[in-house]
Amino acid sequence: MTRAKSKVDAAPPTTLFLFGAHGDLVKRLLMPALYNLSRDGLLDNGLHIVGVDHNEVSDADFAAKLHDFIIEQARSKHPEGADQALDPALWAKLAKRISYISGDFLDDGTYQAIGERIAANRTGNAVFYLATSPRFFSEVAQRLGQAGLLQEQPDAFRRVVIEKPFGSDLPTAEALNACLLSVMNEKQIYRIDHYLGKETVQNILISRFSNGIFEAFWNNHYIDHVQITAAETVGVETRGNFYDSTGALRDMVPNHLFQLLAMVAMEPPAAFGADAVRGEKAKVVGAIRPWSKADALKNSVRGQYTAGEGDKPGYRQEPKVDPDSRTETFVALKVMIDNWRWVGVPFYLRTGKRMSVRDTEIAICFKQAPYAQFRDTEVERLQPNYLRIQIQPNEGMWFDLMAKRPGPALVMENVELGFAYKDFFQMQPSTGYETLIYDCLTGDQTLFQRADNIENGWRAVQPFLDAWRDGGKIDHYAAGEDGPESADELLARDGRAWHSLG
Ligand code: BG6
Repeated sequence: MTRAKSKVDAAPPTTLFLFGAHGDLVKRLLMPALYNLSRDGLLDNGLHIVGVDHNEVSDADFAAKLHDFIIEQARSKHPEGADQALDPALWAKLAKRISYISGDFLDDGTYQAIGERIAANRTGNAVFYLATSPRFFSEVAQRLGQAGLLQEQPDAFRRVVIEKPFGSDLPTAEALNACLLSVMNEKQIYRIDHYLGKETVQNILISRFSNGIFEAFWNNHYIDHVQITAAETVGVETRGNFYDSTGALRDMVPNHLFQLLAMVAMEPPAAFGADAVRGEKAKVVGAIRPWSKADALKNSVRGQYTAGEGDKPGYRQEPKVDPDSRTETFVALKVMIDNWRWVGVPFYLRTGKRMSVRDTEIAICFKQAPYAQFRDTEVERLQPNYLRIQIQPNEGMWFDLMAKRPGPALVMENVELGFAYKDFFQMQPSTGYETLIYDCLTGDQTLFQRADNIENGWRAVQPFLDAWRDGGKIDHYAAGEDGPESADELLARDGRAWHSLG
C-alpha cells in the first residue's frame, strides 16, 4: 500500500521477541517472512530474533529446527525445488541473529531474561510478538508492563503485536483492549489481521482511489448489492479444539470479512496514513445496522458440514470436535450499512470450510439496465453486471459485461474484462506477513487494527451471537458443497442469487 515513506530502507535495528516460538505461526509464517525480508535487504544487521517459549532448547538447536521445518514444508509443496527454499549463505547470516529464551510466560524470571537480552544488544528498540494462545495475551502484556519493558525512550521504541482472535465477543474484546491500554498506549499496539497483509486486499483501496472512474458509480444509485465470500476447501484440520469453541462467524467475520467490507465500503481517507485510514474503516463498520435478535435470526444462516464424497469426514467426526457439536462451519449473513453512500444496499457475506472450491472474492453487483428496449427482441432477460475482485487464488479483477454474439440473431452473452496479477507483475514468494512485520518494525500502523476497529467489528456481529445463543437452527451441507440450501434462500428471498464460485 502507498504510504508516506518509501519502502526501500532496511527496518531499524530491533530485538524481536517471538512468544510462542515453537508454535505453528512462527515456523510456518513468521520465520519464512523474516527470511524473505532479509532476502530483499529490508532487515538491518542489528535485527535480533529471540524465540521465547517454555521448552528447553539451545540457540543453535532452535535455529536448526526452524531451518529444517522450512525445508520440510517446501519439500511437501515442491519436492524437486525444496533445497532452493533457503539460500544457505543468506540463511547462515540470518541464523547468527536467532537466539532463544526458555521460560514460562507467567514467570517473572522470563521477563528479567528478556530485559537482559535487550540490554546486551546495541539497540533499545524491541518488538514483542505474541504468537501465543490467546489466553496469554493479557498475562504477557501485563508482565511486560510490570517489568518496565514497555517503557519507551526517545531513541528506543517498544511495540507489541497481538495475533487474532482478539476476544471472543464484544465484552471480551473491550476487556482485552482495556488491559493492553493500561500498560501501553495505542501507538505501541499492533493488532494483526493477516488479510491486510494480502496485496489484493491492499489493492482494493488503491484501485478505488487512484482510478477516477470508480467513484462515480460507487454508491447506492448504481450498486444493487455486494457479496463477500471466503470459501475454503479445507476442514478444521488439527484445530478441532480451537474451532469447536469458535465457529465460522467468530473465526472469519468480525476480522477478515469485515476488512474486505471496510475496504470496499469506506469513504476516501484524507491521506493514506494510519489515523485517516483506520478512522474511515471504524466509521463504516460502525455504521452497520445492529439487528434486533429476531432480525439477526432472519438475516443469518448457520451451516455445518456432514460427510462428503471421497471419504471426507463430517465436522462432528473430526479430531477434537464434540460429536454432538452445534458449532457452525459455514455462515451467511445479510448486513446493511446505514450511511448516505450505502443505505438500501445489502452486503451479503458468506464463509465456510469444506466448500467446493477455495475462493475469496468480492462481487459487486450493479443495478440492472432497464429491459424496455429489448421487449421486442429474442433477448428474454438481461444479466446484471458484476465487478469481481478476486482476493485469492487467481488474484485479479474482472468486470462482467453483456455483449452481442456476432451473427444475424440478437443473442446476448456474458463476457469478461479482466486483469490478472500474474499477467502484469512478477511476484516474489511471500507469506503475506512480510509487509506486516516490516510495517511494525518501521512504526507504520496503517495495516493494523485500532481498538475501535476491533470493537466495532464485534459490535456488528454481537446481535448474531446473542440471537444464536438463545435459539435458531443449524443447517447441514455435505462436505464439498457450497453451504446449506438456506444460504441460497437468504438471497432468493430478496430476488437475488450468489455469484457462482470458482
Ligand atoms: C484464519 C482462520 O484466521 O484465516 C482460519 O483462523 C482460516 O480458519 C484462515 O482458514 C484463512 O486465511 P487465508 O489467508 O487462507 O484466507
